[in-house]
Amino acid sequence: MFDRDPAGVRIELRALTKHYPGQAAPAVDNVTLDIPAGELVVFVGPSGCGKTTTMKMINRLVEPTSGEIHIGGQDVLSLHPDELRRHIGYVIQQVGLFPHLTIGENVALVPKLLGWPAARRTERVEELLALVNLDVATFRDRYPRQLSGGQQQRVGVARALAADPPVMLMDEPFGATDPITREHLQTEFAKLQKQLRKTIIFVTHDFEEAIKLGDRIAVLREHSHIAQYDTPANILANPADDYVAGFIGQDATLKRLALLRVEDMPADSPVHDPALPQVTGDASLREALDVMVAHGTDRCSGPQGVLTYAGLCAAVGSAPPGSGTDAAPREGVAAGDR
Ligand SMILES: Nc1ncnc2c1ncn2[C@@H]1O[C@H](COP(=O)(O)OP(=O)(O)OP(=O)(O)O)[C@@H](O)[C@H]1O
Ligand SMILES: [Mg+2]
Repeated sequence: MFDRDPAGVRIELRALTKHYPGQAAPAVDNVTLDIPAGELVVFVGPSGCGKTTTMKMINRLVEPTSGEIHIGGQDVLSLHPDELRRHIGYVIQQVGLFPHLTIGENVALVPKLLGWPAARRTERVEELLALVNLDVATFRDRYPRQLSGGQQQRVGVARALAADPPVMLMDEPFGATDPITREHLQTEFAKLQKQLRKTIIFVTHDFEEAIKLGDRIAVLREHSHIAQYDTPANILANPADDYVAGFIGQDATLKRLALLRVEDMPADSPVHDPALPQVTGDASLREALDVMVAHGTDRCSGPQGVLTYAGLCAAVGSAPPGSGTDAAPREGVAAGDR
């Protein structure tokens, strides 16, 4: 199997098609996509465009009508489906915990199938529940119905990570959580992925979530046709067409500022100024702008020096104030985009 090394492996989809019997048009039509090893690729697209079907073909919960899938160079269609699925973490859209198993047993399901000894399974359950912020003593022996929707969803994420698979398919994994828990899960998950470098396909309807987590984003149309496949920074700076621009929404420039960090910017003056409002090095430029607006000033100080409003404008390629030109931000090239 492709998971001797739990770090990610490359996934290749070649002319992948699914035509459900009795349907006039294919749900997924001739999709070709490369997902580099260790990257998190986000699928965004309208309801019914084929995101879940595309994912389910990768772990063969749905059999393709035609086309090929390779994971780590191995032809997935030649593998035994049950065996394949033990090596791919899957968070399904409706969580899908087993109601008659405790939270601990749900999380330990795949390790058990893989024959891990009991002590190692117990240790893994403790580690993973802590990771998704569920107290082990409180939750391990409860049943899924005794948890809220968001808590169940976190158990779903823990279960998918349990056997440390190199590939994870995550179908709207944080969809049922409140905005605060969701933000927390996104931040923790982004940190975790930085260490683990698994190959992940992640579906969301939330473009902000896509930008925050994705190494790349695939914006999909009907039948899983790819409208654009690129890094978040490139999609925000140069949306391929109006369809993609529609997904980004009105505030593309603010979203680009959110991708850039204070410590990656050349300071306008490389001396820290304690008299100005302060931002941390890992704050985003959007947060720096927020600090400036909140203090009614056009500058703030990070650890490496002073940042100005004009500097933020330059970072996203818009005309600096007072220059008299009206450069369209979308056509500019942000520092750090390329
Ligand atoms: N088992 C099935 N049999 C027939 N048609 C199906 C089946 N599953 C999905 N479809 C159809 O295939 C299309 C794609 O469905 P899919 O579930 O992949 O969409 P999706 O992009 O995941 O949508 P959502 O964002 O709502 O989850 C839809 O038109 C759907 O009605
Ligand atoms: Mg779906």
